[in-house]
Amino acid sequence: MPKEPPFKTTTMTVLMTPDMANFSGHVHGGAILRLLDQVAYACAARYSGCYVVTVSVDQVTFRKPVFVGELVTFRSSVNYTGTTSMEIGVRVEAEDVRERTSRHVITCYFTMVAVDEAGKPVPVEPVRIVTPVEKRRWAAAQLRREFRREVERRNLEIRHHPEDLIGGESVDPD
Ligand SMILES: CC(C)(COP(=O)(O)OP(=O)(O)OC[C@H]1O[C@@H](n2cnc3c(N)ncnc32)[C@H](O)[C@@H]1OP(=O)(O)O)[C@@H](O)C(=O)NCCC(=O)NCCS
Repeated sequence: MPKEPPFKTTTMTVLMTPDMANFSGHVHGGAILRLLDQVAYACAARYSGCYVVTVSVDQVTFRKPVFVGELVTFRSSVNYTGTTSMEIGVRVEAEDVRERTSRHVITCYFTMVAVDEAGKPVPVEPVRIVTPVEKRRWAAAQLRREFRREVERRNLEIRHHPEDLIGGESVDPD
């Protein structure tokens, strides 16, 4: 019998409880970040059938607060596979159950790498791209992979040549 292709998506819905609140009574950003990492882990591990590690998380912007009592749904998908890495996209929606409304809160992207017992990267099965949405996500993920490399290169330049930031004056790096 032909082998089933691995799951590409994982969805998780979590109730925002009072222990997740910050001093203003809204959900603490760190509580959402922790859940984001968990769902990215679950999606990548389930797809690859391996332990995975988080290598990078792209910019996370909280545009709107999330409130205690809301249901928050994290929809994740494997957008792209390299040799050992996977880009996992996560879309987060907060739902007010009494109003029956939901709003988009965050979309962000994780790079996860499949590893063996010794923590060494191992190859993952190339993700099958079929639908127009999958094609769009793949193309966007490829561009983001290039941006990440560029940002990393520029950050290293800034770290290694801090004097360039202040007109050539000598300064210790951080
Ligand atoms: C992930 C890890 C095993 C990669 O090791 P490495 O020696 O860089 O291995 P490689 O150079 O073979 O890179 C492996 C993959 O990671 C990707 N990668 C490495 N650095 C990256 C970065 N800064 N951003 C995005 N992807 C990166 C590479 O592109 C490669 O992907 P590919 O195989 O699909 O092309 C290693 O960096 C690690 O253990 N990091 C710590 C992860 C961790 O503990 N996370 C939790 C933090 S608490």
